[in-house]
Amino acid sequence: MKVGSSNSIISVLFVLFSVILGVFSQEFENFDKEIPATWQNINIDKTLDVTKSYTKEILTITAKNIESLPVAEYIQPISKERTNDFALIIGSYGTDGKSMLQINVFNNTANEESEYNYLVVTFPAPIASGSQVDFQLQFVYLDQLKPMPDVLEMNGVQSVLLKTHKYPVSSYPIESYTLAISGTNGKVENLDQGKPQVNDLPELKQETSNSKLVVFESEEQVTIPPFTVDYISLHFEKNQPLLVAENLKRNVWISHWGDSVSFEEIYEVTNKIAKLKDGFSRLQWMQSKYTYTPGPYGLAFNMDLPNGFREAYFTDLVGNVSTSKIVKNHLVLKPRYPLFGGWNYNFTIGWSNDLANFVKRSSDHNEKYIAKVPLLNGHADMSYHNVEFSFYLPENAELLDIASPVPYEDYSVTTEKSYLDFSGHTKVTIYYKNMIDEFKHSDVIVSYKYTSSDFLLKPFITGSFLFIALISYLLITKIDIAIDTRSEKK
Ligand SMILES: *[C@@H]1O[C@H](CO)[C@@H](O)[C@H](O)[C@H]1NC(C)=O
Ligand SMILES: *[C@@H]1O[C@H](CO)[C@@H](O)[C@H](O)[C@H]1NC(C)=O
Ligand SMILES: *[C@@H]1O[C@H](CO)[C@@H](O)[C@H](O)[C@H]1NC(C)=O
Repeated sequence: MKVGSSNSIISVLFVLFSVILGVFSQEFENFDKEIPATWQNINIDKTLDVTKSYTKEILTITAKNIESLPVAEYIQPISKERTNDFALIIGSYGTDGKSMLQINVFNNTANEESEYNYLVVTFPAPIASGSQVDFQLQFVYLDQLKPMPDVLEMNGVQSVLLKTHKYPVSSYPIESYTLAISGTNGKVENLDQGKPQVNDLPELKQETSNSKLVVFESEEQVTIPPFTVDYISLHFEKNQPLLVAENLKRNVWISHWGDSVSFEEIYEVTNKIAKLKDGFSRLQWMQSKYTYTPGPYGLAFNMDLPNGFREAYFTDLVGNVSTSKIVKNHLVLKPRYPLFGGWNYNFTIGWSNDLANFVKRSSDHNEKYIAKVPLLNGHADMSYHNVEFSFYLPENAELLDIASPVPYEDYSVTTEKSYLDFSGHTKVTIYYKNMIDEFKHSDVIVSYKYTSSDFLLKPFITGSFLFIALISYLLITKIDIAIDTRSEKK
C-alpha cells in the first residue's frame, strides 16, 4: 500500500503548473476506434483527498505493455457525468513526479451509449514490449460532497456523502489495487457498497491505518476486467463550510503613471452545506453565538492577499463593511450575517500593490513589459464555477501575449475608455470554469509594449482635464473605504 503521494498532491500540482504554462482551451476531439488491449495494470493505487470542500483523486498506475510492439499511448476512461465538474486533470511520471505527461481529451464517438469519454495519455517515448511504466493521473473535481442528511439543526454537526467508483474504471485489466481516503479523520461512518453490480469480485475491507487514513483493499487476488463499474458511498463527518463562488470577477488595473497595480474582486458566494432544519431563528442564533465552536456556517473569509498590499476595502450591497481585519498577509472578512446552508453573500474587495510587485521590464526589450499576476487571491478553501479575469493595460499599451497556466474557456480583447483617457485602455478578459483556491499559486502572464512617450503622454493629456480630475479627486478622497492603510509592506 503506497499512500505517500497524498501529502505531496499540492506541491506536485504546482510544480507542474509552471511546466504546462501556455496550455490553452482544450477541445474535445473524436475517438471512434476500439481501444487496443495493449496494457495490463499491474497495480493501481487510488487516493481520494477530501480535506477541502472539493475532491482530489490520484491514480498511481503501474502498467505493463502486453503487446508485441512498443506502445506510447494509455487510454483512461473519464465519466461523462463528471465532464462539467473537473477543475484539473494532469498526468505525471518519474520518481519525483515532476515530469508532465501529455494528455488529450477525446469524445467517445465510437460508442455514443457509453458513459465514458477518454483521456489519451502519451508517454515521452514508447514503452517496449513486456516493459512496465509508472505514472500518475491527478484529478480535481467540484461539487462531489453532498450534505447528508440535507437538513441540519442550528448547532448540528454536518456530514457529507461522497459517491465514488469502488474499483478504478480502466480500459485494461487490473491485477491489484488499493483505495485510500484522506481528510476524513479516519471516520468513514457508513461504507455503503450497495448491491454488487459485478459478480465474483471481492468485497472491500476497511482499515484505519492511522487517524487520517481509511484504506480499502481487496483480500483476494482477482483480476478486474476492463470497464468494471461499481460504486460505493462514503459517509463522513465534515463540519466545515462548503463555499462555492458561483461567479468571481477579478479586475486588475496596471498603471505605470500611478506606479501601482490595483485589484478589484466581485464575489457571489453560496455555502452548499445542509439547509437549516427549522429555518433561521434569530433568537436561537444569538443564544448559540457565544457557545459557538467552528462549524459549517460561513462566518468569515480569510483572503490571502499579495505581500505589500495596501488600501484594502470590503463592501457589499449595503455599503462599506467594517467587520474585517488584516492579519499578516490576510484580509479576514466577516460578512454581515453567517452563511447558513444555501445562503448567498455578494461582496467586493479591493486593494493596491506597487507596480514593481507584479510588472517587470523585459530584459531583451526596453519597451516590453511582463505582468505576472496570480490566478486567484482568495479564501483558503473555496471552489469557483465561473471566473472572469480582466487585465486593464495602461493607456496606449499594445498587447503582445497572454499565457494561462490552466486551460480556459474563452478570452476577449477590447478597448475601454474612461473620461480621462485619450485613446483607451486595452482590456483582456480570460473566462475560466471550475477553479479551486489552490490555483492562487500559479500566475497568468501578460506581456505588452509600452513606450516612454506613452508614459509622458498621460500627464500631458490629463493637464487639459485638470478641472474634472480635481473634482473627481475630491470625490475619491471623501469616499475613503480603505480598511487599514497600514497593511504590512515588505
Ligand atoms: C464532447 O463531449 C462533451 C461532453 O460529453 C459534449 O459536451 C460535447 O458537445 C461533445 N463534443 C462533440 C464535438 O461531440
Ligand atoms: C469604512 O470602514 C472603515 C473601517 O473598516 C472606516 O475606517 C472607514 O471610514 C469606512 N468608510 C466609510 C465611507 O464609511
Ligand atoms: C447575488 O447576486 C446574484 C447575481 O446577481 C443574485 O442572483 C443574488 O440574488 C444575489 N444574492 C444576494 C444575497 O444578494
